[in-house]
Amino acid sequence: MSYFSGKTIWLTGASSGIGLAMAEQLAAAGAHLILTSRRSEALEQVRQSLANPDAHQILALDLSQPEQAVEQAHAQLGHQVIDILINNAGVSQRSWIVDTDLSVYRQLMEIDYFAVVALSKLVLPRMLERKSGHIVTVSSVAGKVGTKLRSGYCGAKFGVIGFMDSLRAETRAAGLQVTSILPGFINTQVAHNSLTGDGSALGHEDPDNAGGISAEECARQSLQAIANGKAEVVIGSGLSKLAPRLQRFFPGLVRKLVANRKTFDES
Ligand SMILES: NC(=O)c1ccc[n+]([C@@H]2O[C@H](COP(=O)([O-])OP(=O)(O)OC[C@H]3O[C@@H](n4cnc5c(N)ncnc54)[C@H](OP(=O)(O)O)[C@@H]3O)[C@@H](O)[C@H]2O)c1
Repeated sequence: MSYFSGKTIWLTGASSGIGLAMAEQLAAAGAHLILTSRRSEALEQVRQSLANPDAHQILALDLSQPEQAVEQAHAQLGHQVIDILINNAGVSQRSWIVDTDLSVYRQLMEIDYFAVVALSKLVLPRMLERKSGHIVTVSSVAGKVGTKLRSGYCGAKFGVIGFMDSLRAETRAAGLQVTSILPGFINTQVAHNSLTGDGSALGHEDPDNAGGISAEECARQSLQAIANGKAEVVIGSGLSKLAPRLQRFFPGLVRKLVANRKTFDES
């Protein structure tokens, strides 16, 4: 029996990309899913497409407003036991610092940082009480290496790794598991949906993501790391996979590589 079989798993960002691929693989492994994103119709379509659709529920939330999202989640889930929370929903950025409104930084922090804190805090008391539970967050290689065009995204994704490290330290004695997933370039809609300087979506692909590994492969490796109780895992190929290790041992080299690398709007 798999680690996920029979478990209730709250998965955010389940309507697209890595989250959708995780939903398919988790449902096939016999999990009971709570599927979250903003778009309820998309979530309902996902639910119906999964193995054993009646075992899953949808919970549409806008995670750019974490306090409201927590109230809504509490109203729907009540005291339902959550075995695993996977904070996967996220929004990226493609804009130069000099061109980016402060409101865009706040929005990135709300979705990519505060929503993770809020949802984790919502499930944590019951997990501590039961001395059982697993909290997972999909951060990014951009949570270890700061790059051009992603200043706000990097801030949030760096921050969330620190939050997860503290969470792991505080809950270890109670037997909880805490996993951070750090994908490199993955071929999803992430660039298309990225925020630009005025908060509008980029609306087109970034060749780096288009050339990345598939969402299905990223989901497969992420779920394996979760099942194995890994604290942190980097997933991807090429330079994006190597970058966190290079950063650790050769920080000066990485600074040069990152500064010299042309972005899609410089080449
Ligand atoms: N793809 C990559 O190269 C890559 C690399 C590193 C890390 N990541 C991380 O991986 C995670 C998944 O991204 P992806 O690549 O699968 O991108 P994606 O295809 O754009 O999916 C993003 C998901 O987040 C949800 N979402 C966005 N804003 C939301 C909001 N305000 N409230 C609730 N849900 C929201 C979206 O659903 P709705 O539109 O229905 O709300 C969607 O399900 C993100 O945390 C991302 O930062 C991706």
